[in-house]
Amino acid sequence: MAQITLSINSRVHEVDVDSEIPLLWVLRDTLGLTGTKFGCGIGQCGCCTVHLGETAVRSCQLPVGAVSGMEIRTIEGLSVEGLHPVQEAWCTENVAQCGYCQAGQIMSAVALLKSNSKPNDEAIDVAMSGNLCRCGTYKRIRKAIHLASKRVEEAK
Ligand code: FES
Ligand code: FES
Repeated sequence: MAQITLSINSRVHEVDVDSEIPLLWVLRDTLGLTGTKFGCGIGQCGCCTVHLGETAVRSCQLPVGAVSGMEIRTIEGLSVEGLHPVQEAWCTENVAQCGYCQAGQIMSAVALLKSNSKPNDEAIDVAMSGNLCRCGTYKRIRKAIHLASKRVEEAK
């Protein structure tokens, strides 16, 4: 066990855990941040996506000791007030079906729009290819990303 300092959603947490345990387990089981989901546990589904800085990463693949002191953002911390524009677009387009994969999808979409504010279909498909949806909501995800992009551009 080790004392590890984590910066999550702009709050500092001290946790006493094995430094090799994946970040996902600490988020969910130690800190109660259950918006980030466990899917495959082997880096293949994207359910567990969070941001490390501005990059979308798979929290099931990151030993918690490796991210000590780095800025981590989860779905709970995406917007300080109300919904993030990507979440609003998700609601407008009724993207979610069962919802299980959607936190990870949204975190990947937000990271995409930060690096490319006007992605075309191909860029969206490439950026979102690591996020699987068993309900097959891919077409609505693409539509929602285009809508969020348009709204963010118009608000500039
Ligand atoms: S749970 Fe992490 S990629 Fe599937
Ligand atoms: S909405 Fe059900 S798995 Fe994606």
